[in-house]
Amino acid sequence: MTYTQFPYSRGRRLRASKNIRSMAAEYRLSVKDFIAPLFVTEGTDQKTDIPSMPGYYRYTLDLLLKEVEEIQSLGIPSVLLFAKVPDEKKDNEGTEALNPDGLMQRSVRAIKKEFPEMVIMTDVALDPYSRYGHDGIVRDGQILNDESAELLAKMSVSHAEAGADFVAPSDMMDGRILLIRDALENAGYHHTGIMAYSAKYASCFYGPFRDALDSAPGFGDKKTYQMDPSNATEAVKEAVSDEQEGADIVMIKPGLPYLDVVRAVKEAVYVPVAVYNVSGEYAMIKAAAEKGWLNEEDAMMEALIAFKRAGADLIATYFAKNAARLL
Ligand code: PBG
Repeated sequence: MTYTQFPYSRGRRLRASKNIRSMAAEYRLSVKDFIAPLFVTEGTDQKTDIPSMPGYYRYTLDLLLKEVEEIQSLGIPSVLLFAKVPDEKKDNEGTEALNPDGLMQRSVRAIKKEFPEMVIMTDVALDPYSRYGHDGIVRDGQILNDESAELLAKMSVSHAEAGADFVAPSDMMDGRILLIRDALENAGYHHTGIMAYSAKYASCFYGPFRDALDSAPGFGDKKTYQMDPSNATEAVKEAVSDEQEGADIVMIKPGLPYLDVVRAVKEAVYVPVAVYNVSGEYAMIKAAAEKGWLNEEDAMMEALIAFKRAGADLIATYFAKNAARLL
């Protein structure tokens, strides 16, 4: 093998100007990479602050449509919907999650009607609907697996019926992708896709999101179903098994502390890999920027390109609109 040494080789030649750097760039961000998460709440004409997510809001459906319009005009292809459920509608059976006229189902229908090209993804998990704030059905202090997975399959069909393009199970119950795929096929929703949260870690970085949806676990934590941050090989196993069960896209979550996992999964599957740049990652950059300790735009863009470098094809991020404006 021949190789060139200094002074014939000089790394700085490819860094000499903005244009040269752009030619030598190995990875690029595109607005088409982005999935914009959206929080919808009951009522009309209200946009509510989320204190731990400065600059991010919960919208009532009427205002949410304006937000989707803006997202579409920026060229972002997809939204990921989360519904905030009032306490009186929470139980342990996911009753409201299956309501054909529930907030999630109404939101999907309304967005589809006004913006037929927008790719709509829906969060599938019980926590916003659970009086225990857990992602599955609770019995004797345990989070039941198979019963929960069956309910999530019904929930997925309900979202598909409303017009969702992809359902996004974020619960980490075993076997749920197979059950969901089966249920969608049996109901005739052959083209509704599944974006599986395949490697979802039991992470403190979801804190601000739980404020946004008022969905923090009422007892214990989520460590018996979400993954242990100590593990990487297990994440690959989870992603591969979700792919085999019929996932169309696999996701790793959170993002920044798990870039190694993104790379490992990317090398193991033949479906697009998404990463979720979660609420706590957003909050960290926002907080440091508010204090004047970091430049917000630079930190945001550096984090986003890191996801591409790690191997992510898609990025769910609260920065989607801001980054799209810069691109
Ligand atoms: C619900 C869900 C969570 C997030 C996405 N879907 C929270 C959790 O599992 O507790 C977190 C998203 C974020 O922090 O931005 N299952």
